[in-house]
Amino acid sequence: SEMKSRMERAAKMKDEDKLYKREGILYSTILSPPETLDKLKELEAREDDLILVAYPKCGFNWMVAVLRKILNASTGKNEKPPERPPMVEFLPPDVQEKLAEMPPRRLLGTHLHPDNIPPSFFTKKPKILVVFRNPKDTLVSYYHFMNKNPVLPSAEPWDKFFSDFMAGEVAWGSYFDHALAWEKRLDDPNVMIMTYEELKQNLPEGVKKLSEFFSLPLTDEQVSSIAGESTFSAMLENSQKSHGNFGSIFFRKGEVGDWKNNFSDAQSKQMDELFQAKLAGTKLGARLKY
Ligand code: A3P
Repeated sequence: SEMKSRMERAAKMKDEDKLYKREGILYSTILSPPETLDKLKELEAREDDLILVAYPKCGFNWMVAVLRKILNASTGKNEKPPERPPMVEFLPPDVQEKLAEMPPRRLLGTHLHPDNIPPSFFTKKPKILVVFRNPKDTLVSYYHFMNKNPVLPSAEPWDKFFSDFMAGEVAWGSYFDHALAWEKRLDDPNVMIMTYEELKQNLPEGVKKLSEFFSLPLTDEQVSSIAGESTFSAMLENSQKSHGNFGSIFFRKGEVGDWKNNFSDAQSKQMDELFQAKLAGTKLGARLKY
């Protein structure tokens, strides 16, 4: 219902008012107004929280679903899907306060750059899973997402969105800034980075890694059944139940390499050059295959 009222507000808003800039980064006016971001600094993480971080369109909802299945299977509890994804920067200030009453283990998520996530996420040292995806497919997914999500402005025309993404002039900021910031934290024992491509290639292995990282033990049978329920087609089939009418916004193609249907040769080259300039020689960069 909160989601619905936000959509209704968005429908009355002009595209140019849907994003605003704060300390050099664009945010959604409706989802993350300044009072929400101000209050977020006070959010107290707990050591046993499960934190999920992803730059937009890198596979956040996929990982939320997988993690929730792991939680349910491992603890034997049956958590109902929440009304909205546990994205902390979307929660109004009064709801942020209520997080303190949530029982353990809380599942919290964010798209924010590490410099802007609540500081206690680092001081209390909860486990943080970071999901990344190659920048070309991320860009394509973002483009389609903006065109379908009324809360964000239209991404048309494609060429304009392409250059906005390259310049970091999109909601939540520059993909490359996020990647470089996480590269610095790669060896932090509380941080694990997974990539969309690795998960696509071997989902059971990903499920297993997640369960070990968060200390949520699973049997081999549980690993394979969770992997089976978490494929794109299985999740798409279940999306009406899990996401209602918003399902089509979050489940589009679910493939690696869709950028080839969208990028011109010149754009592909331009991205290769930027990738080279920013991420060449980094460990994370080596894992972002496209
Ligand atoms: P595409 O637009 O390329 O299809 P996020 O949840 O971070 O917004 O990411 C959305 C992307 O993850 C979309 O990519 C979506 O289709 C994809 N996705 C969602 N569930 C998936 C799954 N089970 N397997 C693979 N990709 C999935």
